[in-house]
Amino acid sequence: MCGIVGYIGEKQAYPILIDALKRLEYRGYDSSGVSIIDQQKPEMVIRKSQGKIIHLEELIKSHPLPPSTIGICHTRWATHGMPNNVNAHPHKDCSGKIVVVHNGIIENYEELKNALLKKGHTFLSQTDTEVVAHLVEEHYQGDIFKAVQKTVKQLKGAFALGILCLDDPKTLIAARVGSPLIIGIGKNENFIASDVPAILQHTKKVIYLKEGELAKIQKDKVQIFDFNGKAVSFKVDKVTLKVDTVQKQGYPHFMLKEIHEQPHVLTQMFRHCLKPKAVSLDEIGLSDKQLKDMTQIFIVACGTAYHAGMVGKYLIELLAGIPVAIDVSSEFRYRTPIIGKKTLVLAISQSGETADTLAAIKEAKAKGAKIVSICNVVGSSLARISDGVLYTHAGPEIGVASTKAYTAQLGVLYLLAIKLGLAHKTLSPKNASLLMKDLKQIPSLYARILKDKHTIERIAEQNAHFGCFLFLGRNINYPSALEGALKLKEISYIPAEGYAAGEMKHGPIALIDEYRAVICLAPESDLYEKMISNIQEIRSRKGKVIALATEGDAIIHAHADHVIYVPKTNKLLTPLLMALPLQMIAYYIAVKRGCDVDQPRNLAKSVTVE
Ligand code: AGP
Repeated sequence: MCGIVGYIGEKQAYPILIDALKRLEYRGYDSSGVSIIDQQKPEMVIRKSQGKIIHLEELIKSHPLPPSTIGICHTRWATHGMPNNVNAHPHKDCSGKIVVVHNGIIENYEELKNALLKKGHTFLSQTDTEVVAHLVEEHYQGDIFKAVQKTVKQLKGAFALGILCLDDPKTLIAARVGSPLIIGIGKNENFIASDVPAILQHTKKVIYLKEGELAKIQKDKVQIFDFNGKAVSFKVDKVTLKVDTVQKQGYPHFMLKEIHEQPHVLTQMFRHCLKPKAVSLDEIGLSDKQLKDMTQIFIVACGTAYHAGMVGKYLIELLAGIPVAIDVSSEFRYRTPIIGKKTLVLAISQSGETADTLAAIKEAKAKGAKIVSICNVVGSSLARISDGVLYTHAGPEIGVASTKAYTAQLGVLYLLAIKLGLAHKTLSPKNASLLMKDLKQIPSLYARILKDKHTIERIAEQNAHFGCFLFLGRNINYPSALEGALKLKEISYIPAEGYAAGEMKHGPIALIDEYRAVICLAPESDLYEKMISNIQEIRSRKGKVIALATEGDAIIHAHADHVIYVPKTNKLLTPLLMALPLQMIAYYIAVKRGCDVDQPRNLAKSVTVE
C-alpha cells in the first residue's frame, strides 16, 4: 500500500524516479507526486497529481522540473483524506524546506497534529503523513538526521518514510517501522524503494531495512542507525530476480501473464520438492520430530491466501489427521485463540507484508506457538519473523488479483500435508507416492486448460452482462468457489458470492432468477450427484448455470447452460485445476466490461495497513 522511491546520485533523478514509481503502481494508484531539490537555486520543487502516475507525467511535461540528482516520489493508496492533489505525497513543513513521503498509518497523528497546531504550524492536507513533516520541522536545529531521529521516536503505528531537506541536499533519509523499505546500492548512486522490482534495472544489491531502523543515505555512503542514534551493522543482499520477470512480456495484462506462468511455477516447485519417496521442504525450520509432536494447527491469512488455507485445512485433516483451525488474520488477532507449545501456526501471505497477518503471527508467537509461513516474497517481514518459511517461488506477482501465488500456495499446502501425513503415519508411503505422482502431472494439465482458453473466453463473454454471480462448490472445492467469487468481484466489480453448495437452500437460493448466473464446481467427486441436484434447483428457478466439470462427463451437458471441462485428475487435486478456469472467467469478464484488470479500483496489492 503506497509506493515510495528515492534517488541520490549523479544522474538526473526524475527519469529514474518516475520509471521506478511506475513499477510500484500496483501498491496504490489514486494519486502520486515527486519532489526534487533544485540544486542551482536552491529550492525544493514538488509536483503532485490526482489519479494514476500517467497524470503526474503529463503534469511534469507541461510544468517541467529543473535538473536535479536527488529526489523522492510516491504513489498513494488513500487512508486519511480523499485521493486528491492536496493529499497526495510528498508533504512539506511550513518552511517548505522539508518534504516527506510515507507508507503506513501514523496512529497518533491527531494528538501530534493538535500539539503542532498549538505551536503555530499550518496544515494543508487531511493526511496523517503531514504531521511527520511538521514534527521534523519542530525538531530541526540544523541537523536533519537528528530531527528525524527525534521525530520517529514520537510516532506510533506503521511507517516507511523517505525524507529530504533543502539545507542538506546531499542526504536522503529513510526510516521504517512495520511498512517495508529497501535501500538499493549502486555505483555513486543509491536508492530507496518499497519493493525490489522498482530498482531492479539499476542494481541487484539491496539492504532490507529492519524494524526500527533509520538510514542516512548519500550517493556513495549508507549508514544505518537505531532510533536512539546508535549505528547498527547491516548486510547487503544480492537479489536474483530478473528484470523481465517484472515486465508484461507481450501479454496485455500482468494478470494474464501470471495465469500463464502457473504451469512453470508448479513444475519448478514439484521438481525441487518431490523426491522419490519423500517431500523435501528444506526451509520449514522444524525437525520431523517437532512436526510429529504438533497436535494442532492454526492457519491465518487474508483474502486469496485465506482460501488457499481453507483447502489446506481439508488436506491436512484428511492426510495427517491433525485438527486444523483457520481464521482470517484480522479476526485471529483480536480474539483469544487457544494456542500451546504444540500448536503450529501456518501464516500464508503472498507479499509477506500484510499488516493483519503480521500482527496475528506476533500474537501467536507471544503465546509460544511455532510459526511456519508460506510466503512468496523473499526476505519479507513475515519470512523474517517466522521459525520456518516455505517459499512459493512464484516470482513477482504484479497483478492485484492473485493468481499464480494462489496455486503456488496450494502446491506448498499439498506438499506439507503429505509430509505431515508421512510424519504422523496417517498416510502410507504407497498412497503418498501415488499422490505425488499425480501432483507432478498438474503442470501438463494446466497447459491443456490454457490451450483451450478460447472456450473459456467465449463463455465468459457470453455471460459478462449478468449483474450478479453465485459460485457454488462442495467439500475441498468450497474454498475454490469462494476464491472464484473473490476474483470476479475484485476485477469486474460484479457482486459475486461464493457458497458451500449445501448452504444454497439456507438463503442464497432467494437470489436465483433469470438474471443471475451461477458457476457450479462439479468435478468428479463423491459429492457429484449432490451438486447435480443443486444445479437442477437453480435451473428450475431459471438461473443460468455455468458448470466446471471433469473431461468425459457426458451427463453434465443436460443440466448446465455452459460447460467448461478440466482434465481428469486425482479428486483431491481438483482445487488446483478449478483455479485456472475461475481466474480466466474473471479475467475475460473484466476485460469485456472494460475494467482495469491489473489495477482494480480501491484495491492495492499489499495491504500494509490494518
Ligand atoms: C487477492 O486477489 C487479493 N488481491 C487479496 O485478497 C490478497 O490475497 C490479500 O490481500 C492477502 O495478501 P497477501 O497474500 O499478500 O497477504
